Amino acid sequence: MADIHQVNDLISIEREGDIALICIDNPPVNATGQPVREGLQQAIEKLNAEGNAKVAAIYAAGRTFVAGADIKEFGKPPKVPALPDVFNVIEDSTVPVICVMHGTALGGGLELGLSCHARIGIEGLRVGLPEINLGLLPGAGGTQRVPRLAGIPMALDMSLSGRMVDAKEALEKGLIDRLDQGDPRDVALKAAQDVLDGTLQTRRTCDLETPKDDTALDETAAMLRKKQAHMFSPHKIVEAVRASYLPRAEGLAIERQAFIDSMDTPQRAGMIHAFFGERAVSNIPEAKGDTRPLDRIGVIGGGTMGSGIATSCLLAGIPVTLVEVAQDGLDRGIATITKNIDGAVSRGKLAGDKRDAVLGMLTPTLAMEDLADVDLVIEAVFEQMDVKRDIFGKLDSICKPGAILASNTSYLDINEIAACTKRPADVLGLHFFSPAHVMRLLEIVQGAETAPDVLATGFALAKKLKKVGVLAQVCDGFIGNRILAHYSKVASYLVLDGASPQQVDDALEGFGFAMGPHKVGDLAGLDIGWMTRKRKADDRDPAERYAGDVADRICENGWFGRKTGKGYYLYDSGAPVPNPEVATIIDEVRADKGITPRTFADEDIIDRYMTAMISEAARVVEDGTAKRPVDVDMVFLFGYGFPRFRGGPLHYADSIGAAELVARIEAYAKEDPHYWQVPPILARMAKDGSTFADLN
Ligand code: CAA
Repeated sequence: MADIHQVNDLISIEREGDIALICIDNPPVNATGQPVREGLQQAIEKLNAEGNAKVAAIYAAGRTFVAGADIKEFGKPPKVPALPDVFNVIEDSTVPVICVMHGTALGGGLELGLSCHARIGIEGLRVGLPEINLGLLPGAGGTQRVPRLAGIPMALDMSLSGRMVDAKEALEKGLIDRLDQGDPRDVALKAAQDVLDGTLQTRRTCDLETPKDDTALDETAAMLRKKQAHMFSPHKIVEAVRASYLPRAEGLAIERQAFIDSMDTPQRAGMIHAFFGERAVSNIPEAKGDTRPLDRIGVIGGGTMGSGIATSCLLAGIPVTLVEVAQDGLDRGIATITKNIDGAVSRGKLAGDKRDAVLGMLTPTLAMEDLADVDLVIEAVFEQMDVKRDIFGKLDSICKPGAILASNTSYLDINEIAACTKRPADVLGLHFFSPAHVMRLLEIVQGAETAPDVLATGFALAKKLKKVGVLAQVCDGFIGNRILAHYSKVASYLVLDGASPQQVDDALEGFGFAMGPHKVGDLAGLDIGWMTRKRKADDRDPAERYAGDVADRICENGWFGRKTGKGYYLYDSGAPVPNPEVATIIDEVRADKGITPRTFADEDIIDRYMTAMISEAARVVEDGTAKRPVDVDMVFLFGYGFPRFRGGPLHYADSIGAAELVARIEAYAKEDPHYWQVPPILARMAKDGSTFADLN
């Protein structure tokens, strides 16, 4: 009978002679929730009080070591014991405590290891301090113990990037003492034996001094003031790492205060919403259940989109048959895919020695009949219904029974496409975002007749491609582009009424968007929007104020943005400079329309833009195009560069409140009652005081 004492449900102590093995068993990821913290503290105190163990080794059961603090506890009243206090108890233990880490040791998980007296990694281990991705900083000694062990530059790098450090680097940098193979319990037992034999040394991290590096601290602080002025926790990280020069208690106190201050910010709430939202979008019945195979995928169209989709599949290890109608198109597709794969190698996303094998999984062809054996076809050709009808009709007769037929259309009616086949249950929309091998969003569009296993396979594909699959219903533009089509008009109205394109961009970049809408237009190509406006000219609602006057005039000059060197901005000298000729066009358009320009404060620009986005997002939730507000939020975070720290448009909406949003819309409606209308859902929420979070 093994001598096992359960400290509580999640922590046990197993005795093997002089050795005590402390096991953490808190599935799925051994997060350090309150019972884990309490159990660990009690285990160490018990061993010290009893005094008959000569060494203790902590390890974890299951697929990974500790993934950090329990994120679900954040934002709620803190429960004792606090993690840093537990780790001090471990570090101060007179019985030496070692730690064996496998899988991922993140945040509080790594910090637990650092408070032990020696660390052993198991092959495949990755360690990291990802708290910055949650709007936080390492709050249980990470900023104090990493610099002592691995130096200030490494501490700054890890805690400011949140990146995962592999076992080899962790060993080189001194974060772990040894790398081993095997089952965590066996490795723990052997390592503990080595401590007793004197072949594994133990020491307290707090006894080490941080090697001085003021230059790294000062340069990083200056860089952050310039590049991340609007963020809270990065600046606190530098302060806390600097405090690692001080004795443990003083340094930890500074780290603790910085952690508590970060916890109080809306940035933390937004980023934690993003963490759980990313997982919630596929935690729905439609994403679960039986799936169909995904052993070979066909992609029709070798343009930017088709090539990006093919690249994404190849990088996920799925063989691809790429179909084009003409040899030059096929050659262009192959060239783009090769460039994308080479890019993945140079960015470190793919090992160089795998490049040729990955490219070897691509079968280019001009014969659509070669799609006979694929499990899923993704069509990515022109956005023209008659072209799509023709392709889906052909696919219906070529593809094997049970093959899934998907369209990457960004707005066309999936039901109309499905109706061209005798198997509408096998048809769905898979809407990728450009560049498709980089952008993580995948809208999974459910047709009226899409079979449940076809939909679930869409989610399985998203997972294989490491994308965030979001369920959407059929409508013009689905979730993202439909909302975009609505709010992008506001940017044009603001310019017509008096703001400059640069002021609009600067204000929205200040809000946190990586690029303002005019810079995005220049990057994507202004001709794209121009073509859409021309296509939709006949359907234009005469009561709606036209938003394309200035953009049309720019395009008529042949200025399509970056690719022509000229758009809203000039790109001759690298950094974009406002195009003075656009200012002249704007003046002329205003004069034609009899508009007297007025000034807008940056706040006003942000409020109008965000209120427009929220209005249409609310309608998308109300009519069921998106299942829940969180689905809209994730579409914007992963497909539209929405600032992650704001959580998404509807998470942000809750911070404003429905009553205030309704008041704003009513005020704007005095200027333009056609465009600004209160969505009924928002009116109801304003009345009953409910929030979008209530609908998640
Ligand atoms: N707290 C609570 N729940 C967590 C969690 C955490 N730290 N980490 C993961 N989970 C949950 C997930 O929400 C998910 O739950 P559901 O199954 O209900 O959706 C489940 O655990 C499995 O997670 P994943 O689906 O992400 O599993 P994976 O195998 O793809 O990835 C992982 C595993 C790499 C550990 C990933 O979950 C991850 O990155 N977790 C977050 C790590 C992190 O940010 N840690 C820092 C926490 S803050 C901190 O520690 C502060 C401090 O200094 C004191």
